[in-house]
Amino acid sequence: MKIAENVYSVRAVDPDIRTFHGYQTPIGTTYNSYLVTDKQITLIDFVKAPFAQGLADKIRTIIGDGNVENIICNHVEPDHSGALPHIVSLYPEAMIYGTANCEKELHAYYPDCNFKFTVVKAGDSLNTGVYDFQFVPMPMVHWPDSMSTYMAQEKILFSNDALGQHIGTGELFDSDLGDGQLLARAQDYYANIVLPFGIQVSKLLSAVSVFDIRTICPSHGVILREMIAPMIETYHSWANNEIDEKKAVIIFDTMWGTTKKMAQRLAEEYRQKGCAVELINLSEKHHSYAMAELLDAKYIMVGSPTLNNGMMPTVSAFLTYMKGLKPKNRTGMAFGSYGWSGEAPKQISDILIACDFEVLPMQRVLWNF
Ligand code: FEO
Repeated sequence: MKIAENVYSVRAVDPDIRTFHGYQTPIGTTYNSYLVTDKQITLIDFVKAPFAQGLADKIRTIIGDGNVENIICNHVEPDHSGALPHIVSLYPEAMIYGTANCEKELHAYYPDCNFKFTVVKAGDSLNTGVYDFQFVPMPMVHWPDSMSTYMAQEKILFSNDALGQHIGTGELFDSDLGDGQLLARAQDYYANIVLPFGIQVSKLLSAVSVFDIRTICPSHGVILREMIAPMIETYHSWANNEIDEKKAVIIFDTMWGTTKKMAQRLAEEYRQKGCAVELINLSEKHHSYAMAELLDAKYIMVGSPTLNNGMMPTVSAFLTYMKGLKPKNRTGMAFGSYGWSGEAPKQISDILIACDFEVLPMQRVLWNF
């Protein structure tokens, strides 16, 4: 699919995938790869391994018996590099361009694959005839190897995982999506993948602010043309950890309903205080949904009844996941019902403290109220 003069999307759509290292993707995703047909032909990023032949077929449809001479590898994670061995077997003379960490990690992932590699750093560029590709390393957005690439002549930023969304449907451009869908899916994505790296995201936004960007081609989801400004503005707010002081998210599981009643009671209390409240029962909603909801919430309240001297497994999984994603400057509270030993709220409080939250006194209820 042509997206600009001599620039093609050769992506793979994966509508059925439902998990992305712990992140539930209810409408699947895409693995976006781009082909630029200049005097030299350049592939930007690969796709996931099962889609390697499809990528090769799409390239062949566009360039026939021509050769891919350059491959820009913005990121090593296998959803973007998995097709490397197959593509390199078809174009063994292609030069791969990426960061020093990219080279190291590609050799570790594909020890049996011989490929040519040129290490690039900030400010380096590649000329392919008419077009110039300027490299912008973005370490820890979200791996050490991560990089974005700017193509000046068409004013395109190939942003890799930054500014992406897990949308596994047929839409190609932001204008093809319904209202609100783009930023909602970008919010899921940021909360579940990029959240720990706000400082690094700010550096990236600063680095690319010098470019005239008319199109953003991320490695997941739709291409941005009309929504560039709102997306960048929203990314600034997430990277700066901007929080709604009047938003509370209450996340819980329940055995026989008492902890659920506690959650509802808390919800009413915080609504009375003027807060917007989101109640999330982890037996009904996945923990990655909870992450998206708490991205900008000041209050994060977590409830579990005590089960076998501990908390419910859904709550434990959520807390492990949230702690790793490092939300900052929050106020937390633990709550839960119990019958005899009652350890769960204390265990939850300890984890909220370990998250560096300000933690309010926990609430416990014996049997019922
Ligand atoms: Fe989309 Fe970090 O891989």
